[in-house]
Amino acid sequence: MRSSIEEVAITALDRLSVLPLSACVPLALRCPLPQERLRRVWSLITSFDSGLATQDSRLIQEGWAICFCPSFVKTGQKRSSLRMISPSTTPDFNFIAPVYDRLAKVVFGDTQQKAQGHFLYKIPVGARVLVIGGGSGEILIQLLQNCSPYHVLYLEASPVMLQKARQRTEASVKAPLVEFRLGTENQLHPQELFDIVITPFLLDLFPDSLLTTLIQKLNSALLPNGLWLHTDFRLAPSTKAQLWQKPLLWAMYRFFGVLSNVQARQLPSFEQHFRQVGLVPIASTYYYRAFIEAMVFQKP
Ligand SMILES: C[S@@+](CC[C@H](N)C(=O)[O-])C[C@H]1O[C@@H](n2cnc3c(N)ncnc32)[C@H](O)[C@@H]1O
Repeated sequence: MRSSIEEVAITALDRLSVLPLSACVPLALRCPLPQERLRRVWSLITSFDSGLATQDSRLIQEGWAICFCPSFVKTGQKRSSLRMISPSTTPDFNFIAPVYDRLAKVVFGDTQQKAQGHFLYKIPVGARVLVIGGGSGEILIQLLQNCSPYHVLYLEASPVMLQKARQRTEASVKAPLVEFRLGTENQLHPQELFDIVITPFLLDLFPDSLLTTLIQKLNSALLPNGLWLHTDFRLAPSTKAQLWQKPLLWAMYRFFGVLSNVQARQLPSFEQHFRQVGLVPIASTYYYRAFIEAMVFQKP
């Protein structure tokens, strides 16, 4: 089943294919759009189909726009030129979501899953857990199979990923146990505090300036003595390993830079960021010839 956002995009695409060129909205792909401009884009699109108008305000609230460039229409490449874009610096995994897991498996097999699941045994019974950037829900399945949390907040920026996670787990999940929330760290409420924060392959998406803020926000949602389970890529110290790891990283950053609006261009120094907010590393392990690291940090 398609999410409502996909439905809107597809309906808009079909409608636009019969519109004259004068109806095109010339916008640079992936440029951040202020709310007012988003509204104007939407009113243009929706003026051709009132059926879309009902979705309009919801999409704008969620920060989405549909953008397309008239020059592509002339060359007959309408479908590829119409994109859903995020008006913010938040990575946008909607476009890649349908194939993300398969793609990751082709490159890394099941090592990403093994790495992110490695330290789940450290989650105490009855813990309040925040999973942020969990994607299509693999980590949630592992968490629910292996731990007995009191409550899980599953916070995901991509509506398509969130929907997948919800669908994959709905049979096994009882509503009060897991809350699926669309959004980023900015959608955390000030009074929400967690024993465990899990960031599976999330932090590498951000350049240092954004990562500092993200880590500060998540750290303030972590209770004293709480644990932060971090899994991500790393460059192994050996020059030999870096011979293949550096080109692979470069390719990954370029790929997700273009397709998913990922702003970072290189791996940040995660440990330095964690230490800056006073978190202490207490355990770590490596996967995929030391290209993937699972770490546990504790808040004093
Ligand atoms: C690289 S994918 C990893 C997905 C999953 N953890 C995995 O390993 O398969 C990153 C995920 O984080 C989400 N994301 C990116 N920035 C986010 C943010 N600030 N808050 C919540 N989710 C975010 C993306 O939508 C995407 O699903």
